[in-house]
Amino acid sequence: MNSNAWQIHNPGGTSRVIVTKMLPGSRWLDILTSADCRVEVCQSKTVLDTATIKAAIGGRCDGAIGQLTEAWGETLFDALKAAGGTAYSNYAVGFNNVDLEAADRAGIPVGNTPGVLTETTAEMAVALTFAAARRVGEAERFLRAGRYTGWLPDLFLGALLSGKTLGIIGAGRIGEAVARMMVQGHGMQVIYHDLAANTDLEAFVADYNRFRATRHMPPVACHRADSVEALLETADCVSIHTVLDDTTHHLIDARRLALMKPDAILINTSRGPVVDEAALVDHCRRHPDFRAGLDVFEHEPAMAPGLAELDNVVIVPHIASATRWTREGMATLAACNVAGILNGYPLWQQPDILPFLEKDPPHAIPSVVNAEALGWSGKRS
Ligand code: DGY
Repeated sequence: MNSNAWQIHNPGGTSRVIVTKMLPGSRWLDILTSADCRVEVCQSKTVLDTATIKAAIGGRCDGAIGQLTEAWGETLFDALKAAGGTAYSNYAVGFNNVDLEAADRAGIPVGNTPGVLTETTAEMAVALTFAAARRVGEAERFLRAGRYTGWLPDLFLGALLSGKTLGIIGAGRIGEAVARMMVQGHGMQVIYHDLAANTDLEAFVADYNRFRATRHMPPVACHRADSVEALLETADCVSIHTVLDDTTHHLIDARRLALMKPDAILINTSRGPVVDEAALVDHCRRHPDFRAGLDVFEHEPAMAPGLAELDNVVIVPHIASATRWTREGMATLAACNVAGILNGYPLWQQPDILPFLEKDPPHAIPSVVNAEALGWSGKRS
């Protein structure tokens, strides 16, 4: 990549920070330049390989903001350390693209961007759920192809979700938001699977049931499944919200797909490799009433052979967090992570990250995922 592909902001800045993609909005850039950083932003739309990023780090680099499509491992963290770097932030809440042990060994904190993707991603999971249930993609293709010759009683019959059972795998912030939307908006019953009980979600449903009782509506259930298997056997619609790690790789495989109802819906807005995509293609082929909605793919941006041809699958290109508010918020948080580390600020200790989106962000680092491994407490050592 030629050097013209990197745009330089605040060339006289004391710290050098590289950003491997142009990010939405301008606030993130103001935060970095106000922290006296010279900011070099890659203008290319293609995914950068490790050698290109290493070359961009060069002999002197204080910090970097990278993308979920890049492999931030030993090569890059060692290069960053050797260049005098002390700060890295992923432009993502997920960090499965980061080798945390390599970052720990290099002593480099890894920031991420939690708290601004929750509702946005949950809304996409809900959108995919309805698109799959009501066959929106299939029906649109039919219409655009000029095949609609008039209303018919049985044209594109889909599934009614109201009152059905929603299974949430991974009831963290996003999974919980999906459950709340589907309980309150559509009276769905909830079964969830997570390592820990989500008492906030259970309390929310209990409160909502008190409201329903005043309207003489039957209560909705919310309970934690003992196993993924129990959830898959029960749910009409399953939405995946786990992180990707060794324990969740191919969590949904051929054996588990076979446990699902033949007309169930599977939604994945987490990470592609959580689902064995080849097994899903096979399952969808053999069960035409089964539906899937995918925002993420096992070998992104490629799709498993046959997936794109399946009418019972709705697919979008990893855009679950793609609202302007969220993507600009992620940029602000990533910049605050890097600027905060370079400024020697303490770690933010509150779950609410939104103060960083306000005019004067707190003098703190929003989120560092390996803080404990680096021996950080509230203060930086
Ligand atoms: C993330 O932040 O991890 C999301 O996948 C981006 O869309």
